[in-house]
Parts: sequence; structure tokens; C-alpha cells
Amino acid sequence: MTERIVEMRGIRKEFPGVVALDGVDFHIGRGEIHALMGENGAGKSTLIKILTGMYRADSGAVSLDGKTVEPRSVFHMQSLGLSTIYQEISLVPNMSACQNIALAREKTGFLRKIDWREARGRARRALSRLGLDIDLDRPVNRFSAAEQQMVAIARALSFDCKVVVMDEPTSSLNEGESAALFTLIRSLRGQGVTFLFVSHKLREVFELCDAVTVLRDGRLVGRRPVRELDQYALVSMMIGRDASEVIRGRRAPRSEARAKTVCSLEGVKGGARVKGLTFDIHEGEILGLAGLLGSGRTETLRMLFGADRPDSGVIRVDGVETRFAMPRDAIDRHFAFCPEDRKLDGVIPNMSVSDNIAVTSIRELSWKGVVSRSRKLALAREYIKRLNVKAASPLQTIKTMSGGNQQKAILARWLATRPRLLLLDEPTRGIDVGAKAEILGLIRSLAAGGLSVLMVSSEWDELIQTCDRILVYRDGTNVASLSGADMTEDAVIAAIAGGH
Ligand SMILES: Nc1ncnc2c1ncn2[C@@H]1O[C@H](COP(=O)(O)OP(=O)(O)OP(=O)(O)O)[C@@H](O)[C@H]1O
Ligand SMILES: [Mg+2]
Repeated sequence: MTERIVEMRGIRKEFPGVVALDGVDFHIGRGEIHALMGENGAGKSTLIKILTGMYRADSGAVSLDGKTVEPRSVFHMQSLGLSTIYQEISLVPNMSACQNIALAREKTGFLRKIDWREARGRARRALSRLGLDIDLDRPVNRFSAAEQQMVAIARALSFDCKVVVMDEPTSSLNEGESAALFTLIRSLRGQGVTFLFVSHKLREVFELCDAVTVLRDGRLVGRRPVRELDQYALVSMMIGRDASEVIRGRRAPRSEARAKTVCSLEGVKGGARVKGLTFDIHEGEILGLAGLLGSGRTETLRMLFGADRPDSGVIRVDGVETRFAMPRDAIDRHFAFCPEDRKLDGVIPNMSVSDNIAVTSIRELSWKGVVSRSRKLALAREYIKRLNVKAASPLQTIKTMSGGNQQKAILARWLATRPRLLLLDEPTRGIDVGAKAEILGLIRSLAAGGLSVLMVSSEWDELIQTCDRILVYRDGTNVASLSGADMTEDAVIAAIAGGH
């Protein structure tokens, strides 16, 4: 038995125009929960994809459990006891949860015919280990992002695996679900399973992990036991300079609320989740929506954007009752919506990053139906710069960019429309700590210039730091409004739970 269950040496990987990994040494101790950290584009996902057989390294060596291996494919590595959950969840959308869980095993070729009774049992056991009770027969594209993530985790756990590799597993989970996942990870560690874990959430790393490896620009910065680090030291390692500008305190409260109401909701009901919303959004206000998964926050944004229609109630824009038939109507009124699931509603994978940014501004960039290429590139360049999007060139195909940089490009797309109301659903998901502070700072300065923002986030500290006011949702209604000194995590939790 070796102490190092995973070892990678001198790993190099080049893509056109970028060296993603430049001679990286990496190892994980047996039974360890190991965090891989670094800024967006540092090379974390690439390292994981090499370990798990999805990419081939240009050079370097990999060993698993003391034996040199050449990771050939995900299934090859799975057969050796290494299971993976990628950053971009790769479930088959119109197959059921049960089929998805069974699928991975089917491809190993051990089973020609799937034994569905056995598969169902296995799927149900895997889900119940996660403490989940979900409908096994529902196609996974009808699940929320969090539920899909859970199915992906259950699929990985349905194998007898020695090492579980997870690229940002909690980015679409709320705090309760993350806590459930961590309990599970700890108990599996007790049974000897080793975990490799990518996260941008510092808190999780300190709560869960034993050791951390930091990458920067494709190079190894260092490997440390977590107990030897504090937030400041870790962030400094990640960004390569003093971290004090990133780890900032809470901002000063806004001096005065502007009176003008941009948009108001009165008794709005719709779909299965929204059961009665009444509130106003003011000019220059950053209004946060806090609540549990399924409490109707995303549905609120969708209704305000004309993606769904309310069943009853009134939405007013500038005091006038308004019904958007479709998102185009909302865009014409300078509403913008940056959706939660960039893979499903956001990124156009085979287009360049500049086309992805410009796609919402095509009308403004065209004359007599012809899009000006130079104006399009100029617009894309401007926002690539403003949001610090890391791309080899504005023409890089977006699907080859790192996860966090894709997320930034989607945000850029909507900021480029110069909205007056910006609807944000989990805007900093997958974005590194340094960039997160920059982006929230940018949103605050746009709000100071009059932009109104309605923002959903499951990270309550992010809402508290960014918003002027937080509405708390419970069961599809807004039950509390917190501002100023009342915006604390305890107050949010109490309001969600229904106590005070
Ligand atoms: N298939 C690909 N083709 C071209 N370039 C790629 C490809 N995959 C990754 N890259 C580039 O390699 C670099 C590292 O990307 P990687 O996805 O590993 O970053 P990351 O650390 O996972 O970032 P994030 O935190 O944003 O997910 C980036 O510059 C990215 O654009
Ligand atoms: Mg990544």
C-alpha cells in the first residue's frame, strides 16, 4: 500500500495559443480530501481531465495506487476505481435519473443488457446514500441544476470507487445540500475513499479538506495541509500577490435610496412555485432574493423577463401595467437576464467568445440587416477587458474556455446591452474569489450610476455584501425584507425558517 494513491509528475498540456499546464507535480494521499484551487483558467479542470482520461497529457506521468497508468478514457479510469463528476454536468438530458445512473456502467461493456431491476435498486441506494428522495423516472432535464448535480454524484457513487474526483460539485447546490454532500464525503472518507475536489468557495475548503494544491497560470504554486493555512494565505497563493484587496469587509451602506420605482410586483402568482409576490425595485437598487432551492426565486426572474407568464397579479414597469409576451419585449425595455445554468440557457458552445458576447446586441451592431464585424469585435473586446475574461483571442471558441471565463462572458453579454434592470441568477457561480470581488464591485458601480439589479444567490454572505436590501422567500412568497444592519446571515436563516 502506498501513501500516495494518486501521483502526477511533470504534467504538460498545451492548447492552441495557451500552455494550460506547464510541468505540474501533484499528489493525493490515501483517504485524503484534497482541494485543487486557483484562479479561473489556472488549469484545474485540465489537470483533472488528464487524470481521469478525458485528455491526454503532452508529457508527464500518472500513477494510481502505486501503479503507473496511462489514462485512456473516462471508462478506463472508472474501471480502475476513479470516478469523476465534471464541472459541466454531463447527464443525458432526456433520459431518466435511473437511466443516467445505469448508463455509465453500461458503457464499460461488462453488461450488454441492462438489468433494470438491478439498476433501479442501485440508483435508489445511491440516491438514498445522499439522503435524496427524487423521482427516478423523471427525465433529468426536468430537474433543477442542483438535482441534476445530485444525480451525477449518485452515478459516480454507484461504483465501487477508490477515488472520487469532483470539479466544482457544490457550485449549483444550496447550503443545506452542500452540507449533506459534505457529511457524505466525510463518511465515505471514513470508509477509505479519497476525494479530489475543486471549489472556489474558501469556506468549503477550510471546512472539508485536509490539504490543498494551488495552481496559477498552469504552474504549481504549492501544496499545503489546510490546517497550516488561513484565508489570507490561501488567497495570496492563488492570486500571487497580497490578498487584502480581495478579502474585504462589508461595504458601507448606500447613502440614500432613490425613490423612483423601476418595476413593481403586486400579488404575482405563476407556475407551481410562485404563490404571491408583492415588492418594488427601485432605481439604482441592488435587491437580493434569498430562499431555499425551489422557493420561486428563479421563476420570479423568468416572469420579469417575459420567459414565463404570471397566472395572476400585476407587474408594473415605470408605474404602467406591463405584460411581456416574450423575452424580446423585456429586452426592448432594457431588461437583461443572466441565467443560472450557463450550459443550458447561456453559452452557445460552438461560437466564439465575441459572438457569444455580441449576440444580444446584434440589432444595435447592424445597419440594414448587416452586422458590422468591426463594431462587434470592438464591443466584445471592451467587455472582455472590463470583466477580465481570459481568452486566447476574442475568436476563441467559447466551449474551450475555462468554466469561470465562460460565466464571465455570459455576464458580459448582458452588461453589453446596457440594461436598466439586470436580473442575475447566481452570477458568480464558478468564478474565482478575486474575480468575484471585481465583478460584484463592477455591479455596485453600475448601480451607483442608476442600474437596478435583482439578484438571486445561494451564498448569503455574497448577498449581504452586495445588496442594499434582501427579500427572503418562503414557499413562493416574499416573507421578509432586510436592509442595513438587519442584513445578517442569522436574520436570513431565521426568516427562511419562519422564526424571528
Ligand atoms: N479544449 C481546450 N481548447 C483550448 N483551450 C483550452 C481547452 N481546455 C482548456 N483550455 C485552456 O486552458 C486553460 C486552463 O483551463 P481550465 O479549464 O483548466 O481552467 P480552470 O482552472 O478549470 O478554470 P475555472 O476555474 O474557470 O474552471 C485556459 O486558458 C483554457 O482556455
Ligand atoms: Mg474549471
